Amino acid sequence: MRKAIYPGTFDPVTNGHLDILERALTMFDEVCMLVAKNSRKEPMFEEAERLEMIRRAVEHEARATVESFQGLTVDFARSYGAVAIIRGLRAVTDFEYEMQIALMNRKLAPSVNTVFLMPHDKYTYLSSSIIRELARHGQSVNGFVPDTVAEALEQKYPLRQQSQRL
Ligand code: COA
Repeated sequence: MRKAIYPGTFDPVTNGHLDILERALTMFDEVCMLVAKNSRKEPMFEEAERLEMIRRAVEHEARATVESFQGLTVDFARSYGAVAIIRGLRAVTDFEYEMQIALMNRKLAPSVNTVFLMPHDKYTYLSSSIIRELARHGQSVNGFVPDTVAEALEQKYPLRQQSQRL
């Protein structure tokens, strides 16, 4: 049984993240989406809300689990029995930051490898902050996030009447 974890802030989870999850599930028997804490971010959604949105988005996927953790990602990886940490690489701009974390994680836990996966090119320009920005302006984010996330954003920020369906 080869397990991997896919950590992130997921504020909120997008279809790009789910695309990475699907790819990871072709390589591993079980993948845990881990809501972790990035100390540089102040999320819009509470941790419990982010967990619930991910749970609903992956409920059809029997080999995906969803957890949260306050400590170091490598500590969770070890306790979960994961052999890999999955991260998405959308563009070269992601690389430097991701490499720093991956190398530090490898120093902390040499037996856990970081595996970078590229999402479908239709998601390369997508990010959770762009989604939040669109929603704040009352723009529909349908098509970029799971339906439950779009609904949660619409509850916080009602759609503008002339909002375009993307
Ligand atoms: N599709 C869409 N967006 C994607 C994406 C994809 N496939 N892959 C990455 N992104 C975007 C996210 O939407 C997010 O965008 P935003 O910054 O505009 O909101 C950004 O890329 C990266 O965010 P995310 O993937 O949610 O992760 P993160 O970089 O916020 O998370 C942690 C980093 C949580 C994994 C890391 O801080 C961590 O492991 N924390 C725990 C403590 C620890 O172990 N630290 C490391 C010690 S060296």
